[in-house]
Amino acid sequence: MTRLAGKTALITGAARGIGLAFAKRYVAEGARVCIADIDIDRALRAAEEIGAAAIAVRMDVTDQASIDAAVAETVERLGQIDILINNAALFTAAPITEITRADYDRVMAINVAGPLFTLQAVAKHMIERGIKGRIINMASQAGRRGESLVAVYCASKAAIISLTQSAGLNLIQHGINVNAIAPGVVDGEHWDGVDAFFARYENKAPGQKKKEVGEAVPFGRMGTAEDLTGMAVFLASDDAAYIVAQTYNVDGGNWMS
Ligand SMILES: NC(=O)c1ccc[n+]([C@@H]2O[C@H](COP(=O)([O-])OP(=O)(O)OC[C@H]3O[C@@H](n4cnc5c(N)ncnc54)[C@H](O)[C@@H]3O)[C@@H](O)[C@H]2O)c1
Repeated sequence: MTRLAGKTALITGAARGIGLAFAKRYVAEGARVCIADIDIDRALRAAEEIGAAAIAVRMDVTDQASIDAAVAETVERLGQIDILINNAALFTAAPITEITRADYDRVMAINVAGPLFTLQAVAKHMIERGIKGRIINMASQAGRRGESLVAVYCASKAAIISLTQSAGLNLIQHGINVNAIAPGVVDGEHWDGVDAFFARYENKAPGQKKKEVGEAVPFGRMGTAEDLTGMAVFLASDDAAYIVAQTYNVDGGNWMS
């Protein structure tokens, strides 16, 4: 299947995990991709593994100059950007009384300001070139409700759902569709980190939280990065042309909204 034949995509945080699965699937669907990540060594290895349809660019979504440079380099090397996936993010957890301002500032800079100003830079490029583009933001089930130990990350993902609505409404006049995906619990390095937080704050053995959340998913297991790729292809495809400002849960039945 080549549902994205001829398209180009910039995917942030794509050196590993869900972003990397998106990059691989997009290339399988006929697209060329830019793996943009703060971890350039890993991004370069990922692009090499994927082959000629992938390039790697160093990008720190907390730094405006880095965003602008990464967008410019992607346009120069791939010709233009048809699709942006705002995927880079950072997880953090702490009881309310232990949240530090430094942690808050860092998570909000990566998870909220990063996607907003990357979206802005790519939208300007799309408008300038008349590209009827697609922008996909990575939200989370964490953005659907608060969690006792996860206040800052939950707030950052609620902000992404809200930004998706505002940007979606504002940019559709230019033919740019903005939507979001809200995964549930997806196994990988991200969740290794989440598990470690819960081991610390809930006094669980390593791996215990993962086991519990996996068993609690109505589908019967944690998600894989590959479980999300179908939605990322769909939202970038012509079939999703009439979908604007929405956030889709892809979570094995964890959440209904
Ligand atoms: N894994 C899950 O269970 C889960 C659940 C819900 C939502 N999500 C969301 O899906 C997305 C991908 O998650 P994942 O599990 O693949 O995460 P991950 O932690 O495995 O990967 C994140 C990537 O972002 C990169 N990154 C970090 N800071 C950056 C910065 N400042 N600039 C550019 N890149 C940076 C990292 O180097 C890494 O490659 C995130 O938005 C995450 O919040 C994940």
